[in-house]
Amino acid sequence: MHNRLLEPIEIGPRRLRNRIFISAHVPGFADQGAPGKRYISYHRQRAAAGVAMQITGGTAVHRSGLLTTAPSALVNLDDTIIPGYQSLSDAVQGEGGTMLAQLAHSAGTLSAELLGQPSWAPSPVRSALTGNVPHEMSSAEILEIIDAFVAASGRVRAGGLDGIELLSAFGFLPHAFLSPLNNRRTDGYGGSLKNRMRFLLELVEACRPAIGEDRILGIRIPGSDMTPGGLEISDMQAVAQALENTGQVDYLNVIAYNNSLRFGRALHWPATPAGHELFTELSAQIKAVVSLPVLVAGRITHPDQAEAVIASGQADMVAMTRAHITDPEIVRKITEGRADDIRPCVGANTCIRARFQGRPVRCMHNPYVISRNTDPTPASSNDLPPVTVVGAGPAGLEAALTAAQRGHSVRLLERSGEYGGQLRLWCRVESQKELAAVIDWRVRQLDKLGVHPEFNQTVTADQLLNIDDGIIVMATGAEAVADAIPGDGSVVQTTPVELLNDPGLFTGRALIRDQGRGLSALVAAEALAAQGSNVIVVTDEPAVGLDLDLTVRVPAYDRLLNSGVEFLPNHKIAAFEDGAVKLQHVFTGQQTVLPSIDVLVDDHIMRPCDDLMKALAGSDRIVRSVGDCVAPRTVEAAIHEAAQAIAQLTPA
Ligand SMILES: Cc1cc2nc3c(=O)[nH]c(=O)nc-3n(C[C@H](O)[C@H](O)[C@H](O)COP(=O)(O)O)c2cc1C
Ligand code: SF4
Repeated sequence: MHNRLLEPIEIGPRRLRNRIFISAHVPGFADQGAPGKRYISYHRQRAAAGVAMQITGGTAVHRSGLLTTAPSALVNLDDTIIPGYQSLSDAVQGEGGTMLAQLAHSAGTLSAELLGQPSWAPSPVRSALTGNVPHEMSSAEILEIIDAFVAASGRVRAGGLDGIELLSAFGFLPHAFLSPLNNRRTDGYGGSLKNRMRFLLELVEACRPAIGEDRILGIRIPGSDMTPGGLEISDMQAVAQALENTGQVDYLNVIAYNNSLRFGRALHWPATPAGHELFTELSAQIKAVVSLPVLVAGRITHPDQAEAVIASGQADMVAMTRAHITDPEIVRKITEGRADDIRPCVGANTCIRARFQGRPVRCMHNPYVISRNTDPTPASSNDLPPVTVVGAGPAGLEAALTAAQRGHSVRLLERSGEYGGQLRLWCRVESQKELAAVIDWRVRQLDKLGVHPEFNQTVTADQLLNIDDGIIVMATGAEAVADAIPGDGSVVQTTPVELLNDPGLFTGRALIRDQGRGLSALVAAEALAAQGSNVIVVTDEPAVGLDLDLTVRVPAYDRLLNSGVEFLPNHKIAAFEDGAVKLQHVFTGQQTVLPSIDVLVDDHIMRPCDDLMKALAGSDRIVRSVGDCVAPRTVEAAIHEAAQAIAQLTPA
C-alpha cells in the first residue's frame, strides 16, 4: 500500500532506504551551539525508526547571518562544532540513516536587534516583516560569505555527516540574491535573472570541493515567492536548470514564500486548516524541467498523502517534518502495517510557537518530544494498582492512555455523553476540525487496549472512594463563566463554550469580547459568522488574538476578516442598554455606542471544575489532578501534565 514510499532512491553518492525525509528544523536542543546529548538522541530516535534522511536546522555560517543568538540552535562558525557533528553522524548512521547539515545565512530576514549587529544582504531593502534594513554587501563581503560557507562545509565533512543542504529559500542569502524583491543591485550580482543567480552558482561551485564528491550537496529553493513582483515558477525553473547544469548538485528541495514579506513567514508552514501537500504543484513543475531528484515539504502528514505524491511523480522524496515531531515512529509503523497507530500531526503549530519563543520544540499532543521521543514504556512491576480517571477530555484521555500503556487496568468515567471535553466543541467549527484527531487517535488507542469510556457518569467523592482501592485521577476540566457587565438585560450574554455547544441558539448581531488573547474568541466569531451573523470582536488589547503565533494569526485574520467579521482593538465594554453596547477607548476614554447588539459572547473567565478534587483532598487514597481542573490552560498543557503525572506514579 505504501510501496512507492518505501522504495530506495539514489541521492548523489548515497543510496537512501526510502523516500521519507525530515527537512531542516531547529528543535532547540543544541548545547552551546553544538549537537549535544538531547539533540543527538532526537535525531537518533527518528533514524532508528526508519527515516531515510534528516537535515539539521538552519546553521549559521557567519555572524552577519545568525538565525538566532540562542545557544540552543546550532552554529557552524568555528571548529567547536566538529565533535558534536561526529557524535551526531555516528548516532544517525549507526541506525542506517543519513544526516545532512543545513548551512544558512539569514540575510535581512531577522531584526538587527535580535542579531546584535547589522545583518548583511544583497540590498538594503526593509523587511516588511521585521522592519529591519540590512547592510548592502560589498564584493569583498560576498567573497567573505562564500568563504564562510566553504569553511562550514569543511567542518561538516570533518564531522562525518553525509553532506550539506544550502538554504536558498525563505529570503535567506542565496534566495535574497535571486529575488527581485530583495535584490536591487546594479553590479554583476543584480539585474537580470542570470546575474541574480550568480551568487548561488558561485556558492555551489565553491562548496562542492569542500564537502567532497562522496557527500551529498542539496539546495533548498522556493518554487515561487508567491508575491507579485517576486520570483515566479518560470524563474525558478530556469534556476533549477542552471543548478543542474553545474553538475555539482545532488537534489533540489522545493518550498515556497519569502520570510522578508509580511505574511511570507506565516504561510510556508501554516497551521490547520491549511490543506495538505501544499507545494507539490510547484515541485512537479520543477521536476518537469530537471532530471535531478526533487524533494518537497508542506503538510504531508499521512503516509497515504506521501505515497500519492511519490506515485504521481510530483516529487521523488517527501518531507514529513512536523509529522515526525508528533510521531517519531512513522516509518516503523508503516512498515509494520500499523499506519493507523500513527499519532497524527494536526497542524496546531505549538511546535513553531515554542521555537519562536526560544524554547525547545514541543508538540500539542506528543508529550514525549523532549523526554524520550517515544511512547511510555510499560512499568516494570506486574502488580500495578488500578486507575480510575474522572473526565474524558484531553487530560483524562491522555491519563487513561498512559496508564493503560504502562500496564494499569483503567476505568474512564465521563459526565457527559461524549469524550473530548471542550476540544470536541471547538472541532465543530470548520477551521478546527482537524484537531478532532487529537481525541479520536486516543480513543482508538484506548479501544485497542480494551479501555472504553463510561459515559453519563456523574460521581460523588464517596462513590469514587468506594470504587476500588486504586489510584484516582481527576481530569474534570473547567467551565466558562461570563463576567458581569452592567446592563439592563437587553442583550443575551453567553460564553464561547455555551455558544459552540449550539450556535443556532444565538442569532442576530453579535459582539465577542476577546480577553483570552488566544483562539477561542476567534473560533466563536467563526461559528457565528458561518451561520450568517454580523460579528464584531472587541478587545482592550492592541490586537485581537494578541498571543497567537504568527503562523496561526495570519490565516485566522484572513479567514475572519474576509468573511465579514470586524475587529475593534483598544476598546473595553462599559455597559449595555436598550440593545446597544457602550464601548470605551482604553487610551482616550472616548465612548462609542454599538447599536442593535443581540448577543454578547464573553471570552473571559474559565473556572476550574475542582469540587471533586477538593472533596478528595483529605482522603488517604492516591489522587492526582491534571489539566484544567488544576488551572485552566491549553490542550498541550493538559496532555503533557497528564502523561507526566501517570509516568511518575510507578517506575518504568
Ligand atoms: C520547529 C521548526 C523549525 C524549522 N526550522 C527550519 C530551518 O531551520 N530551516 C528550514 O529550511 N526549514 C525549517 N523549518 C521548516 C521545515 O523544514 C518544513 O519546511 C516545514 O515544517 C513544513 O514541512 P511539514 O509540513 O512537513 O512540517 C522548520 C520547521 C519547524 C516546525
Ligand atoms: S504541535 Fe501541532 S503542528 Fe506541531 S508537530 Fe504537534 S501536532 Fe504537528
